Amino acid sequence: MTSYGDQGFSLFLRKAFIKAMGYSDDALDRPIVGIANTYSDYNPCHGNVPQLIEAAKRGVMLGGALPMVFPTISIHESFASPTSMYLRNLMAMETEEMIRAQPMDSVILIGGCDKTLPAQIMAAASSDIPAVFLPTGPMATGHHKGERLGACTDCRRFWGRFRAGEIDEAEIGEVNNRLVSSVGTCTVMGTASTMANLTEVMGLCLPRAGSAPATEAERVRLSEATGSLAAKLASEGGPTVKELLTPAAIRNGLVALQAMGGSTNAVVHLAAICGRLGIPLDMALLDELGRRVPLLVDLQPSGQHYMEQFHKAGGVPALLKEIRGELDLNAPTIHGASIGEVIDAVVDEPGQTIIRSMAAPLKPIGTLAVLKGNLAPRGAVIKQSAASKALMQHSGRAVVFDSVEDLANRIDSDDLDVAADDVLVLRNAGPKGAPGMPEAGYLPIPRKLARQGVKDMVRISDARMSGTAFGTVILHISPEAAAGGPLAIVQNGDRITLDVPGRVLNLDIAPAEFERRMVALPPPAETARRGYDRLYHEHVMQADEGADFDFLQAGPLP
Ligand code: FES
Ligand code: MG
Repeated sequence: MTSYGDQGFSLFLRKAFIKAMGYSDDALDRPIVGIANTYSDYNPCHGNVPQLIEAAKRGVMLGGALPMVFPTISIHESFASPTSMYLRNLMAMETEEMIRAQPMDSVILIGGCDKTLPAQIMAAASSDIPAVFLPTGPMATGHHKGERLGACTDCRRFWGRFRAGEIDEAEIGEVNNRLVSSVGTCTVMGTASTMANLTEVMGLCLPRAGSAPATEAERVRLSEATGSLAAKLASEGGPTVKELLTPAAIRNGLVALQAMGGSTNAVVHLAAICGRLGIPLDMALLDELGRRVPLLVDLQPSGQHYMEQFHKAGGVPALLKEIRGELDLNAPTIHGASIGEVIDAVVDEPGQTIIRSMAAPLKPIGTLAVLKGNLAPRGAVIKQSAASKALMQHSGRAVVFDSVEDLANRIDSDDLDVAADDVLVLRNAGPKGAPGMPEAGYLPIPRKLARQGVKDMVRISDARMSGTAFGTVILHISPEAAAGGPLAIVQNGDRITLDVPGRVLNLDIAPAEFERRMVALPPPAETARRGYDRLYHEHVMQADEGADFDFLQAGPLP
């Protein structure tokens, strides 16, 4: 810490100020646990944070340390413009610097909505004090006409039915009241659930903290226990996130990602986290694991159910038990047990059908596949577990949209020249293009085709997709069009070939023509920018590098 003259005076001055808050010498003379407060009126996914903080503080004090709560940015998916992803790196930078700037011996990071846990893990990976994570937990499900509803796979399903004219204005209004029935994160295996579960798989939170519902007492007790653990870490001085996130822990994360039906967004976040550690994310390994590790978890959007059922079926420890043959069981955790010991402590839930076995998986393939080809020289990702089988090998005519705005303007036009076996192409929607790599990759089915009953088409883009969406959607094409990637040269009517089993995404034009179009691409337009927008555009990297800022990669700590 900065010194005001001599060390003794620095402590004297800080104590004088903090005593204004009513702290005694007895309270101050002990290890300090920082607790990041991400509560915000704009963030319903973090609506239980005040209660979790109360419980965490109790745990810290039971553990003999002093809790100090401090605010950080909070990002909700629906209320962050232009996109939440645009702000993820800002939250990561702010959280990292606040951990470093303020006196604390360990830190509890409470997050949940899609970008928040990734930002916090990135921050902690670049810090040198122990950090314990506490996901906010999944929301409760709602009900409509005898059906269970979960945000936000069912948001899309019902909106699709409304667009197709199957349900009316009054009914969609009723559904709107019931889709998000409590605070907490989206209850399907979207990005928030995926990242919370991965936090647990990679040993960064307590067992069951990845999946315990936001509204249940267990979540609050986990928070208290997280506080006690953080107090212990504060006096013992370790381990740090950097020490826990070994290549073995990351590999375990990739295995679990494939087995759980995890979100494509997790690939971008894991790449960013790995970048902070100086170990590039091994996309070939991710793909290879997807050929070997089948989908075991029956949750939407790849399957049927919701996080509360996953939790009651045993949650992450039960999943780890099923995939134990693929895991490094010696990988350490923040709570001291190895992953093998976490598995040994699993009490089976008889009769549960949510977490399947390797011998009888939900689907024989893994969740994610990594595609390459002349359209995606540095890769693209598809969530094959949530795609249509009939479209996995498909060749079709390109129907190109130049931007998210162009898509919005024309997709529902009756004049749009489009047929069900065409390939919808969206570009300029990557990290630099939109900017912030919006979740626009789930292009809607053109209205005139939706009315004919078309439910899925091949859709390709440099954008991301909500982890809660379903369809044959190819994402994260790298490099993106706005960075001079070949997606920029696709023309209406070109043929595009997708071969998921062969891992290929190609533009079927002659090499000479391909080359001619690439050379003819205009240089990116220069735009005058200021503030964060300028920082973002000058430093954001591509999707395969996690879309982190180049200067935040692994390096010496200040
Ligand atoms: Fe926050 Fe889905 S909107 S987790
Ligand atoms: Mg999401």
